Amino acid sequence: MPAELGQVLRHIDEHIQSYVAQLKNLVRIPSISTGGGEDPASSMDRAADFLAEEFQHLGLAVQKIQVRAGSNPLVLAHRPPPSPEQPTLLIYGHYDVQGVDNPRSAWECDPFAAIEQDGYLIGRGASDDKGPLFAHIKAVDAILNSGHEPPGGILFLIEGEEECGSGTLADYLARGGLAQFGPITCTVISDTSMYGPEQPSLSLGLRGIVFTEITICGPHQEVHSGLFGGILPNPNHLLIQALAGLIDPDGRIVIPGFYDQVRALSRREKILYAALPVNEASYCQTLGVPHLAGEPDCSILERRWTRPTLDIHYLNGGSPRTIIPSRSTAALSCRLVPDQDPEQIKTALHQFIRSRLPAGTRVEFSRTHTCPAYHLDPDHPLVIPALSAIHTGFGIKPLLTREGGSIPIVADLDKHTGAPILLIGLGQISDNWHGPNERFSLRDFHRGIRTAAALHYELARR
Ligand code: BES
Ligand code: MN
Ligand code: MN
Repeated sequence: MPAELGQVLRHIDEHIQSYVAQLKNLVRIPSISTGGGEDPASSMDRAADFLAEEFQHLGLAVQKIQVRAGSNPLVLAHRPPPSPEQPTLLIYGHYDVQGVDNPRSAWECDPFAAIEQDGYLIGRGASDDKGPLFAHIKAVDAILNSGHEPPGGILFLIEGEEECGSGTLADYLARGGLAQFGPITCTVISDTSMYGPEQPSLSLGLRGIVFTEITICGPHQEVHSGLFGGILPNPNHLLIQALAGLIDPDGRIVIPGFYDQVRALSRREKILYAALPVNEASYCQTLGVPHLAGEPDCSILERRWTRPTLDIHYLNGGSPRTIIPSRSTAALSCRLVPDQDPEQIKTALHQFIRSRLPAGTRVEFSRTHTCPAYHLDPDHPLVIPALSAIHTGFGIKPLLTREGGSIPIVADLDKHTGAPILLIGLGQISDNWHGPNERFSLRDFHRGIRTAAALHYELARR
């Protein structure tokens, strides 16, 4: 380990209490972008300003960018490399959080009080993604405030619309927003999970997504089923018919062509994931289900990370009285894997739903958004330095994993930087992301800051 990194790590260990106190202030800002209870722009602005001020104190060149009226601001912070041939590390994260009606009564404390309990910080966004993002900021803080120059260039790219599809950041990137910062060696993102407690990991992939809402329209308004039952097509029935049997008893999605493009899992990765400890009974116990589901020929981790899925998230139609509803709505999504084309799957899904409805049925698709899967070759030369950084930060040998979730902007970052994405998760799958009582282990926050600091040095000497 370079002596300088040793000093930086010591600085982190000595200042962790103050970093935790600062993180609490960030978590206290209710910057909800989606999922109900979206705050007027003021909270988004406050969160963006909070981050911008952090960077100003650190002497980075900050830009708070309002791409469009009404969009949530981007925060960019840049520190050029000591000399132009040195690499710039791009660090991406999001300050927006999900709503808290999951339901609200299931929260055991105020979601924005940022209470510390048994080594965890409890609060919406603590783990997704404010805590992990803040770890990267404090790593740069520690390098600079222990009197050192970061070994390479640094660019923070932080957005406030990850939870609703990253449309604004996608536009900014498409307009060449990154061109001003020179070549990027790689992007690091801590917005995924560790394999488990005391099991840090580098994730080689994320699934993509096709999300859509379907509305079946019936009579102009809800009508009495005693008066009109027997003559009206019922939107609830039609919706149920269209959605029933989308997954067959073998766990296969029946949309024609759905699996055509799916890239087979390499032998190398199959072996990697088969070697990870998995306990089916403990999944059932923690999730409160009698058994797991899905494709019987695939292992649990293959199903979670490497296979495409279809899930219905929400159903709503009518009211619990003797009526025929006017509208019936469902929200559903497919998670996608490498080589599946989101546009093609979206069209196939919409067409398939239409084909299962009687001719003339009025059906609307809305809020549709898509992103492709991401995959990093396990033999990519940056895998080794990333693993060493995690090892240094945690003092534990890290695992190679994948993830089942999606980070919509990753494909665009890949395209616009031409550089690999290092997914170094700091959260746990038990952190209740998007659910009640979200939490983040403060011990992992500490070790995450150390990892983030080590990464700067590992990448510079590779
Ligand atoms: N941090 C998650 C992404 C994630 C989820 C990574 C699970 C690994 C495992 C991110 O904030 C998120 O929630 N993404 C959404 C994106 C969607 C709204 C387009 C997701 O995956 O559902
Ligand atoms: Mn996230
Ligand atoms: Mn999220």
